[in-house]
Amino acid sequence: MKIAVSGKGGVGKTTITAMLSYLFAKDGYKVIAIDCDSSINLPSVLGVKEVTPLSKLENVIEERVKGPLGTYKLNPKVDDIFERYSVKNKYGIRVLALGTIEKGGEGCFCPQNAFLRAILRYAIFRKRDILFLDMEAGIEHLGRGTAKGVDILIAVIEPGKRSIETLRRIKKLAEDIGIKRIGVVMNKYIDSNSSKKLMEEIEDEILGIIPYNQCFVQADVENIPPYELGCEVSAFERIKERLIEVINGSDVQS
Ligand SMILES: Nc1ncnc2c1ncn2[C@@H]1O[C@H](COP(=O)(O)OP(=O)(O)O)[C@@H](O)[C@H]1O
Ligand SMILES: [Mg+2]
Repeated sequence: MKIAVSGKGGVGKTTITAMLSYLFAKDGYKVIAIDCDSSINLPSVLGVKEVTPLSKLENVIEERVKGPLGTYKLNPKVDDIFERYSVKNKYGIRVLALGTIEKGGEGCFCPQNAFLRAILRYAIFRKRDILFLDMEAGIEHLGRGTAKGVDILIAVIEPGKRSIETLRRIKKLAEDIGIKRIGVVMNKYIDSNSSKKLMEEIEDEILGIIPYNQCFVQADVENIPPYELGCEVSAFERIKERLIEVINGSDVQS
């Protein structure tokens, strides 16, 4: 099961990725969680200290991506890199961080991008594990080839017009690269008439609603994984169950 998580900055992508990774790992699934955001914080939310951002492996990138006579390899070998630079947390979740991707102009080909994309491709097409990609609002790390391997893109929103606008943009990007399915998670939900009205505006499948909970803010302040602080997990449990239904096909998409 391969799950990408996207949404506006600060909506809770990293929190949701970490909580779901934890719940799946606790159930005995093999989980890989990759931080694809240029400001890396998934490792610390999963209780992992030292993770090398893969974009910083300049010598390795050079050695793997450069071909003869100034050519580049589009499919560099990266399986050993994946093994070597992933760090396991205490629940066995393997954590990696991509780091900053160079933003070149249209058609720019950067060795670093080829390398990071190869890592993602490798992770997406591995069998038998659950993969979470904690992404930014843009999903530029995913190309058409890799997008096909993503089972679902979770678009995280919070009550507010701005994140609904971001949702539209993410949907467009996802459709353009061929992501099969999108599910929305409403995070930091506060029950009110205006929140209800906003929910009615959402045309996409809603995977779940997570209430606003000060415990997550506290976990961030103390730099402790939220599940270690005993933050309420029931909303995440339900999303986990829903993902299993959706992806195992026991659910008919409306
Ligand atoms: N349900 C929630 N209730 C309250 N605060 C939350 C909730 N989910 C996330 N947060 C807090 O919001 C902030 C941003 O969350 P984060 O997961 O880092 O967002 P993103 O990865 O989308 O930038 C953090 O301080 C986090 O603890
Ligand atoms: Mg984040």
